[in-house]
Amino acid sequence: MSQGLTDVLVEWKCLEEEYQQLQETHRMYLQKLDEISKLQNNFSSSISHQRKRLKETSHLVKKFAYKDEYEKFKLCSTVILLLFSFICYFFANYRFFDAILNFLLVWYYCTLTIRESILITNGSRIKGWWVFHHYISAFLSGVMLTWPDGSLYKIFRNQFLAYSLYQSFVQCLQCYYQSGCLYRLRALGERHNMDVTVEGFQSWMWKGLTFLLPFLFFGHFWQLFNGLSLFRMAQLPDFKEWQVLMCGLCFLILFMGNFFTTVAVVRQKFKSRNQKPKSL
Ligand code: COA
Repeated sequence: MSQGLTDVLVEWKCLEEEYQQLQETHRMYLQKLDEISKLQNNFSSSISHQRKRLKETSHLVKKFAYKDEYEKFKLCSTVILLLFSFICYFFANYRFFDAILNFLLVWYYCTLTIRESILITNGSRIKGWWVFHHYISAFLSGVMLTWPDGSLYKIFRNQFLAYSLYQSFVQCLQCYYQSGCLYRLRALGERHNMDVTVEGFQSWMWKGLTFLLPFLFFGHFWQLFNGLSLFRMAQLPDFKEWQVLMCGLCFLILFMGNFFTTVAVVRQKFKSRNQKPKSL
């Protein structure tokens, strides 16, 4: 064999070995590439999972915050209504001031219905009656706003203003009770080393309810009394305004809805307390 051919053969062998090495390196490269793409996939799915949870948490925080804001709005508006009713009852015996009060009441109840429908979308368990109650109350205040300043209006005026004063007072108590429930429920849900226990919440809720219920029921019977007074007024000889019967009807509906819903809520709370004493 000539020297040239031998050199070529040696060179060929070298090339063959290098080729084997290249193949091995390529195999390892593919293996690592596969591992990297798997890691990449895992990584991106962890990021999207994390993003989703972050979004859910911020949504949840916005929801809690909205309820807080709603309770604050209710309390501030109720205090304003209480002061205004007080001024109208004791100091400002003018139809114009009564109209402002009724206008404020219409605005307040309309805003409540909007805010409550957002709360319901956010998962609140507000009963349908309370939302309906606000529609009827807005309508009632609207009708009061249109009632002309005649003799029948004058007869009913003080009774209505005293009722508005009382209702605002009861609503302040109710706001205090509901903010307390909200604070305790949140503490139960959020804290790991719970400084508010389920039993603590239950006992606070029952104490609050026992205190609040007599005021609420008194308010309901005042609504019944308003309704009956207006129906009696409709029998007077100078009865001519349609607002008398319309307001009477609204008061009767409010009485029935409020009374029976409150009784049902309390009954349901009693039942669940007796069935599952340790659960919310
Ligand atoms: N208006 C608006 N929301 C109400 C409500 C009302 N009157 N009563 C209850 N809710 C809401 C609660 O805030 C709670 O909301 P959440 O799920 O977002 O936390 C949800 O409805 C469920 O509440 P529930 O457990 O059924 O009742 P509670 O313990 O919060 O309140 C009462 C019970 C009896 C105090 C309450 O229903 C009440 O005040 N009713 C009487 C109202 C009334 O008659 N007003 C006229 C007075 S003259």
